[in-house]
Amino acid sequence: MSYFRDNIEAMAAYVPGEQPASRERVIKLNTNENPYPPSPAVARRLREFSFDALRVYPDPRAGVFVQAVSEVLGIPRDRIQAGNGSDNLLVMIARAAAGPGRRVAYPGPTFPFYETQALVEAAEIVEVPFEADYAFPLQDLLAARAAVTFVANPNSPTGTTASLEQLETLARGLQGVGLLVIDEAYVDFAEATAIELPARYENVVVLRTLSKGYSLAGLRLGFAVAQPGVLRELWKTKEIYNVSSLTEQLGAAAVRDQDSMRANAAKIRQSRAKLAADLQALGWSVWPSQANFILARPPRGNAREVYEALKAGGILVRYFQHTDLADKLRITIGTDEQNAELLKRI
Ligand SMILES: Cc1ncc(COP(=O)(O)O)c(C=O)c1O
Repeated sequence: MSYFRDNIEAMAAYVPGEQPASRERVIKLNTNENPYPPSPAVARRLREFSFDALRVYPDPRAGVFVQAVSEVLGIPRDRIQAGNGSDNLLVMIARAAAGPGRRVAYPGPTFPFYETQALVEAAEIVEVPFEADYAFPLQDLLAARAAVTFVANPNSPTGTTASLEQLETLARGLQGVGLLVIDEAYVDFAEATAIELPARYENVVVLRTLSKGYSLAGLRLGFAVAQPGVLRELWKTKEIYNVSSLTEQLGAAAVRDQDSMRANAAKIRQSRAKLAADLQALGWSVWPSQANFILARPPRGNAREVYEALKAGGILVRYFQHTDLADKLRITIGTDEQNAELLKRI
């Protein structure tokens, strides 16, 4: 006798990156957080936030945040849905569009939460391997003809990207077949965005988060951009109050301060280039990244050993057991001082 669905019992839980209890002496380069503080406008809004506002329920549409996104990105409000992190939007999409007999596809290796959600919904999973050096497997994704295709762009943990032409070809090919979810969690560090695609393709959803570029991973806020008909279906699967009043207000302050986000992202891009060059000078292989991390292979491929040694010395990076990744590490870009410390210890 089991109290649970077979697929839930059979699946493994998502394993988040380590969050050490004490951050004090740990250099944390394992979960792609931003090393710089959020916008000072967020701190101001936090100080002004009304204590009494906590007594009542938040706006189920997170209207103040949605309005800010709408003005900053020039997208109508009825094409924006807020979520408790982009995780929450991924769950809503999977609930609404995946399920038994409804296929979920993604290139692999990628963000493992796509698989988690497909397993929760008992969907059929097609993981399409990237081509050599993580080139985007466009034809195989088209051929999978999935009800939901997830593409993290830039991809994690590789940092590599699909071109806008490839994404548009995929969107066109999947019209009438399934949703194309373009997860732009790392777009603030990248050269291009697909944010214009949902206006032209009714099957495209673009996801954004405030966790990376805006340094607000602890706040839990993201949003989806899609046509109103798509968002109407996602709405049905949403928790009633998925974004808290405080989150809504602080998120609005953050997106209205684009200068602060852009300045931090520019610093991170510079540090990314320097860290990649420094690692290469030490004999590491580094894949070209457009995200706030790099995938890198130590000269002897002994990634696990390097990970353990760094951890023992108080530096956390990410090691994955996935066969293709077992000889590589994903290293979040820290401040130049943190990156220098990492280089000293490898
Ligand atoms: C590709 C990708 N999408 C989504 C997320 C989750 O972001 P959020 O903090 O908005 O839930 C992550 C987190 O690391 C990610 O790597």
